[in-house]
Parts: sequence; structure tokens; C-alpha cells
Amino acid sequence: MKRRYLAMMGLLIIFAMVLAACGGGPATPAPAAPAQPAAQEATPTTAPAQQEAAPAAPAAEGVINLTWVGPGPGAEFELRKEQVERWNAANPDIQVRLIEGPVSATDRIGLYLQAFQAQSTDIDIMQIDVIWPGDLAEHLIDFYEYGAAEAVAGDFPAIVENNTVDGRLVGLPWFTDGGLLYYRTDLLEKYGFDGPPATWDELEQMAQTIQDGERAEGNQDFWGFVWQGAPYEGLTCDALEWIYSSGGGTIVSHDKVITINNDAAAAALDRAYGWIGKISPPGVTSFMEEESRRVWHGGNAAFMRNWPYAYGLSEGADSAVAGKFDATALPGAEPGMSAATLGGWQVGVSKYSRNPEAAAKLALWLTSVEEQKAQALAPSSLIPTKVELYSDPDIAAQRPFMPKLLPVFTSAVARPSTATAPQYNETSNVFFSNVFEVLTGRMSGADAVATIELDLQDLLGFEVGAP
Ligand code: GLC
Repeated sequence: MKRRYLAMMGLLIIFAMVLAACGGGPATPAPAAPAQPAAQEATPTTAPAQQEAAPAAPAAEGVINLTWVGPGPGAEFELRKEQVERWNAANPDIQVRLIEGPVSATDRIGLYLQAFQAQSTDIDIMQIDVIWPGDLAEHLIDFYEYGAAEAVAGDFPAIVENNTVDGRLVGLPWFTDGGLLYYRTDLLEKYGFDGPPATWDELEQMAQTIQDGERAEGNQDFWGFVWQGAPYEGLTCDALEWIYSSGGGTIVSHDKVITINNDAAAAALDRAYGWIGKISPPGVTSFMEEESRRVWHGGNAAFMRNWPYAYGLSEGADSAVAGKFDATALPGAEPGMSAATLGGWQVGVSKYSRNPEAAAKLALWLTSVEEQKAQALAPSSLIPTKVELYSDPDIAAQRPFMPKLLPVFTSAVARPSTATAPQYNETSNVFFSNVFEVLTGRMSGADAVATIELDLQDLLGFEVGAP
């Protein structure tokens, strides 16, 4: 606990420094921060909030200044910078300052919680992960009080429901996400496979065959399968897919039963451990999304588990796999048992903002049909939450995978955030920390699921049972 507290204080101090620096011009890059939350020694997190984009006009009479903590560095941050520039040019009375946020979702919620606990007015608008409405509701405004009912009428109802806590709409749906299997169409053909794997056994076999073949031809850096193995929220997503697609349940059920301690879940974790050093690089236990994508992007992996954002980037001019890949549903233990973890982001406004009305206006614009279409077509290829965009001709032409994979996204498996709120973040920490012990060879799958069960009983006080 002590280490965690110190790490979080580190985040807050860096954040405060950056906010202070932002007052008078471009921010000075902050020194590397101890940004890892509990049990995260190996996580390759970047220091948060290092850069300010599109400085807003200096404070002037009658001008409202808003601060938005945006995504971490990369294609999405570039997209958000461009949006802020357009907004600031069109809205001289509401000027927005965009600050780079942490890359890891786990670090990001740590930062928000610290700011909320201090009831800080420094952040007005923020990105809210699909798993956080229940944990963060008490600190966020109710968009229904700012005319959002009409705006969300065209969103997927399940996402609106997920963002509604005790009748309050605490997040505006922005983009949805689901775990996908990316695969090299050229290499599948080269090695005589008809199509992507339906089961984990098939994936292991294909990955090994392709890896052996490519290495024999001289590419010693080639790996069969890359994914997210660092101890952070992304590992919860990957491990939930392995477990659910093996019949091992969702850690905690909808009706608040702790179901993780079962043989299928234990076997799924042992299976993933078996990949490391064999078809997956030893370094996978420090990979977040971007580390896996880099291996893939360079043409050094046959398969990758990642979110839809990687699709557009993989088609980029600098990509070694452009025109040589596709994405599909992840495998399962048996054919048809595939599972995609439901991800996605919302826009939230802090209850402690001095200008909630202006921030709500910006949030409504960011999540509008027009902006969702733009971000679907941008290189980061973010999946819309507006139903009508799935029949949009431009999206159908330029992003055919979106309508094609709609069933994967709409049947995605939710993490147990509603059942465990407001303690989902701690639940996930317990889960990924123990899964990480398995991946690093310090615990068996069976010991890990038993430990998770005990820790969750302590934390949540729920009953235990079968999935
Ligand atoms: C993606 C998902 C988000 C998830 C995160 C984990 O950003 O949209 O829901 O928590 O990845 O790394």
C-alpha cells in the first residue's frame, strides 16, 4: 500500500507541475515518474501528462478556459490535438487546453482518483474507460442535466446503460472497442492454412509453423503471437478472453458471485504461460498495446491480439504489413467459444469543474456523429458508438472491417465492473497481479485462481460459486 501511495503521489506531483508549467507557454517535459501502481514493477509506463498541445488563448475577459486530459502519445493524441485546434478556432469563448495523459488505463485512473480526492478544479474534461462509470460516478456530472438525452438516442443502448449510474448519465459514449485477432493473410497462405484459427490449439500450431519457417528463412526476430502481458488493465482484458473462451467465466458474475476459482480458468492461464518463450517473446510480460503493435507493425509476428485502433495504423505507409493482414474474432478452447473483451471510452466532465456547462458542450461535440465519423476514418480507426455510422457509405468503403466485425463488438464480454463497483479498479488489480505471477512462472494457474478468489472475498465480501 505504501509503495502504491508513493507512486500515486508521484503522479499527482508531476501532473501539478505540468499544469503549473502550462500556465505560461509550452510545458517543460516532466522527469520520468515512478508511474507504476501496485505490483507493477515491470510495467513500461511513460510519465503522464508530459506535453501540452494547442495552447489555448491567454485568459481574456469573458473567455472560459477548459483543461482536457487527453490520451497518451501516439496517433490518438495527434487526432485529439487536431480536434482541439478546430474547436478553439470555432469557439473563441471556450478555449481548450489539451494535456497528454498516461498511456496505461491503470495509471490513468490513479491520476483521476488523486485529482478527485483533492476535489481539484484543474481537470474539466477527461476520457473515461468503459469499466469506470461505477467507480467514478460520484465525481462526474450528470449529462442529462445538460441536454444529453437527445444526443445519446442514437448510441448503442448497452453503452448508454453502462454509462448510467443510479439514473445519472456520467459519460457520453465516444468509441467502443473489442479484442481482435490480427493475422497475416500472406503468411497463412504461404504455409498452406485456409483461414485464421478457430481454437487456441490451432493458433498455437499455426504460430509455431509460421515462426519456424520464417526463422529458417533468416528472420530471427520473428514471433508467432504477440499480446499484452504487462501487469495493468490490458492484461485483465487479455486474460478475461483466455478464460471466458475456455468456459471459465468472468471472474465475478453479474449477480455478484466470485467465480474465478475453477479448472477451466486455471488451465487457460497455464496455457498462456506456455506460450512465453515459445510462440511469444519473453518480453511479452512487459508489453502493453503499443509494444505488441510495434512487433507486428515491423512484420515480425504472425498473429497479434489488439484493439481496432491497430487496424488503421497497420495500413499506414510505414507499416510492413499493409495489405497483408486482416482481423477477426479471437480463438476459443472449442470452435465457437471465441470471446472479445468489451472496451471503449466515454467523455466525462468533473463535478469539481468551474465550468461544467462549457465542458458538457465540448463533450457533446466530441462525441457527435460527425466527430465519431472523423475518428473512425482517421488513422487510429476508432469504432463508433452511433448505430447509424455502421451503414455510412464512407465507413463501409474505407473501414470495411467495422461493419463486418460488428457482431464481435456487440457480443463482447464485459469485465465485471458493474457488479464490483465502486471497487472494480481494485478487483482488476488483484486479478492482473496474480495472472502476472503465472506468466512470470511464480505461481501455477490453480494457485493463482485460488488466491484471486480469497483476495476478492476479502475485498468484496461476495459469495463464491461456479461460473
Ligand atoms: C483499451 C480499451 C479499454 C481497456 C484498455 C486496456 O483502451 O478500450 O477499455 O481498459 O484498452 O489497456
